[in-house]
Amino acid sequence: ETIYILNGPNLNLLGKRQPEIYGYDTLADVEAACAEVAEAAGYAIRLLQSNWEGQIIDWIHEARNDAVGIVINPAAFTHTSVAVLDALNTFEGPVLEVHISNVHKREAFRHHSYVSLRADGVIAGFGTEGYALAVRRMVSLLG
Ligand code: DQA
Repeated sequence: ETIYILNGPNLNLLGKRQPEIYGYDTLADVEAACAEVAEAAGYAIRLLQSNWEGQIIDWIHEARNDAVGIVINPAAFTHTSVAVLDALNTFEGPVLEVHISNVHKREAFRHHSYVSLRADGVIAGFGTEGYALAVRRMVSLLG
């Protein structure tokens, strides 16, 4: 059973991109941390990243048949994408939203999330540790 961990635009640069905000861990580090938590509980993970909104949507559609839960950091699409929200609304399992930074401490345009209308929980401002915490919670939700 697989938990999808989806990442939106610019997160391929994690570790190099504005490290004062997002830290120095890379997406590979995030993947290792999430795999450890998931595998200990008997789940697999599939961590994916795209800069393309349509690709994220296609992966959410794939998740409908392939994943038991979705952890998603939609990055900037959080604040803009009705299409990502609509796609998540076609998924029947738990959805958890992750933001590395505390979006509520930042610009007002980051305070609104379309994805939060679907998410069963949100983690923001826990740095890259938030991903493994979200996977931990996902395991509990999947019970
Ligand atoms: C982010 C916060 C978003 O506002 C921003 O556009 C990102 C990353 C975060 O993880 O803190 O790209 O989702």
